[in-house]
Amino acid sequence: MLSPEDKDAAQRSGLIELAGVADAIALSPASEEAWIEVIRKMDQVYADLVHYQIELERKNAALEEADQFISSVLSAMTDVLIVCDLAGRVEQVNDALERLTGREASALIGVPLEMLLAPDCRPLFGKLREKIRDGGGCDDFEVSLIDRGGVASPLSMSCSPRYDHKGRFVGVVLIGRPVGELRRAYTELAGAHQQLRQAQQQLVFSEKMAALGRLVAGVAHELNNPISFVFGNMHALKRYGARLTEYLQAIDSGADAARLLELRSQLKIDRIVTDITPLVDGTLEGAERVSEIVQDLRRFSSSQTEPFESFNLCRVVRTAVGWVAKAARVKPEIVFELPERLEIVSRRGPVHQIIVNLVQNAVDVMADSAESRLTISGSEEPPWIVVRVCDNGPGISASVKERLFEPFFTTKPIGEGTGLGLYVSYGLAEELGGHLEAANRESGGAEFTLRLPVREEPNAGASR
Ligand SMILES: Nc1ncnc2c1ncn2[C@@H]1O[C@H](COP(=O)(O)OP(=O)(O)OP(=O)(O)O)[C@@H](O)[C@H]1O
Ligand SMILES: [Mg+2]
Repeated sequence: MLSPEDKDAAQRSGLIELAGVADAIALSPASEEAWIEVIRKMDQVYADLVHYQIELERKNAALEEADQFISSVLSAMTDVLIVCDLAGRVEQVNDALERLTGREASALIGVPLEMLLAPDCRPLFGKLREKIRDGGGCDDFEVSLIDRGGVASPLSMSCSPRYDHKGRFVGVVLIGRPVGELRRAYTELAGAHQQLRQAQQQLVFSEKMAALGRLVAGVAHELNNPISFVFGNMHALKRYGARLTEYLQAIDSGADAARLLELRSQLKIDRIVTDITPLVDGTLEGAERVSEIVQDLRRFSSSQTEPFESFNLCRVVRTAVGWVAKAARVKPEIVFELPERLEIVSRRGPVHQIIVNLVQNAVDVMADSAESRLTISGSEEPPWIVVRVCDNGPGISASVKERLFEPFFTTKPIGEGTGLGLYVSYGLAEELGGHLEAANRESGGAEFTLRLPVREEPNAGASR
């Protein structure tokens, strides 16, 4: 007799009829055992079949997924991909190659690679294959493919070996990027870079002009001094000239010795003679000072990059401080802690511009202080020459300090500050091979330290 489980198994395996027959026929216990064994085996075979079917379906799904993944990667690639066998026949391509050649993958597969290359590149495949076989890499070489218009289109190619699952060298994989595209991207990048440089130069120049606007009063004051004593001297010389002419006319008209002596004392001819040299020297000095100020102004306002030259940094510092201080609404006490000379090889204009910006900021933050004091020190601290601009203003708060050198960062009311002063100064200091930093002083107020190399090789940094 069949047990309920065996009947059930027989039913599942579709052998119910057979089981029914077996049930119907009265079997001897031995043959019943044999039947049960047959049914069990068949049930096992059926279960295995179901299992294999499920496994097969799972593998199929995974295979489809992998296939889908590879095709999506291949079609997403903008670079051209060509897979060749050892004979140089195309085995696989991607959409980028289809687009470039204007031919579908089915028309490309099986074609010798040479047929896709421009005539002068055709011997290439053989050489590549040999090189790769010998273990050499082939990166970044230029090859031209014939594009959809029949024109040779240059590509920057890399080529690598392809191995089968047993590690045998079975072909090569070529990946190429159209050089035209690279060149266009490079040209666009270079153009954008050029525009950025121009905008930056414009910014530096605008900042300089804004600073110059604020400095005009100080420069005018500077000019006024020598011009006024040149004027004074010239008036005195004019008077002396008139008296000398009168005296000479008396000699020419044959006046006697007594008359000439009288005239000489009356016209103070002897004093004129002793005065004339210092007067002329003083006038010359005044004219030279005017000329120097004009030169400084020209240098400061020029948009040209001046060459590196040797000069006394102390003079540049004094001039810059003078201009700002004389233009200041509230004049601070100024303390110079400078030696007579600090020789440096640098560019005068940018150094002047940095000092002007630092001193202007110090003067601005101290405008409301009761006892404002500006201390400018200079010293040689090899390999640097260091200039420190210190004030006794409110100092720099932590939040301001973080953004101090950012372009357009200002705490001044709208229209009173561009926020470019420190940004431009920082850039100029770096270009001169130096550095600009800010700190708070223990005694209160801020301290800006400008370090410049004693001797910077010409052409350091890009020109601004
Ligand atoms: N000596 C200083 N003490 C305290 N804060 C300062 C000092 N110098 C600069 N700052 C702060 O840094 C900010 C940025 O300075 P920066 O010179 O770049 O621009 P600005 O002075 O505001 O504008 P501009 O230079 O065009 O007049 C200032 O607005 C100020 O808040
Ligand atoms: Mg400023």
